[in-house]
Amino acid sequence: MNILVTGGAGYIGSHVVKELLKRNYHVVTLDNLSKGHREAVTGGVFVQGDCGDAALVKELVREHGISAVVHLAADSLVGESMTRPDKYCQNNLGNGINFLTALAEAGVRRFILSSTAAVYGEPEYTPIDEAHPAQPVNVYGGTKLMLEQILRWYERAYGLRYVSLRYFNAAGADPGGRIGEDHDPETHLIPLVMQAALGQRDKIVIYGTDYPTPDGTCVRDYIHVSDLAVAHILALEALRDGGPSAVYNLGNERGHSVREVVETARRVTGVDFVVEEGPRREGDPAVLVAGSGRIQRDLGWRPRYGELEEIVRTAWEWHRGHPRGYGG
Ligand code: UFG
Repeated sequence: MNILVTGGAGYIGSHVVKELLKRNYHVVTLDNLSKGHREAVTGGVFVQGDCGDAALVKELVREHGISAVVHLAADSLVGESMTRPDKYCQNNLGNGINFLTALAEAGVRRFILSSTAAVYGEPEYTPIDEAHPAQPVNVYGGTKLMLEQILRWYERAYGLRYVSLRYFNAAGADPGGRIGEDHDPETHLIPLVMQAALGQRDKIVIYGTDYPTPDGTCVRDYIHVSDLAVAHILALEALRDGGPSAVYNLGNERGHSVREVVETARRVTGVDFVVEEGPRREGDPAVLVAGSGRIQRDLGWRPRYGELEEIVRTAWEWHRGHPRGYGG
């Protein structure tokens, strides 16, 4: 299979590209570099452009004999999505639909969607399995869910089979230390904590200590980005072998509180950075833990870096080696 990866210069996308290259797939990365980094793409063909550009997409499919796609290009900040629904609907949905249509017309019949736990909204129970009601509480999650639903109709009309991967909290970095997480602005807990350990921030603020959890702080299911990347390969190969369309959660099925992350980072980095307790951040559910049994059963996926300590250690290696991210 020759594979087109949109958003392949981003945090998760660059890890997917690296994993594909490791297995000798021919990879074409399409990224408009609005958020991604050219330096994060470790090989294959790189094209700067928009996935919503139908003519470009059709040309790439023809020129490179693309038979499968991994679609990660999207805006993904939950907070921003609430104040700029127009931007999220236009980019994630509008461009997403243009992209799908171009692929269908060009004859591509295998599609992996980068989706999110944000499709579930406020959990009614945990661990959250795929049967949990999907009632997103933010625009970002809403756009991903709508794209999943649109995929069902494209399958009916064009025979395009898909796998949607609903990630929980992606974290960590490639253990080789060559690629990692570099967002601007940075909003995610683990990279922020790494920046505090490097002395680039004077403190970490814990958003809320009065949640109904064992230590009062939010619990999340952190999954190593390389484990996520491997899941994309398994999904692509399942589609290649004739497998059906499917939706899978991706998490470690284990929750860690904000305090645990902070303590683990202090231990791993050896830096006793300042931690402050602050008010809750709007829209944060108390607990998000995945039930990931379905992808384990169907595709044989197993997390390799399941321990929080390993996730934080690989993040630390990247941040320490690249204190200014890709700009350094
Ligand atoms: N947190 C802090 N202080 C900070 C930053 C974060 O206490 O400075 C807390 C948050 O309140 C939350 C936890 O750390 O409880 C994790 O926060 P992140 O921002 O790292 O991640 P989220 O759980 O908010 O969001 C992530 C992805 C989303 C996705 C969501 C779905 O970034 O894109 O998981 O599970 F939608």
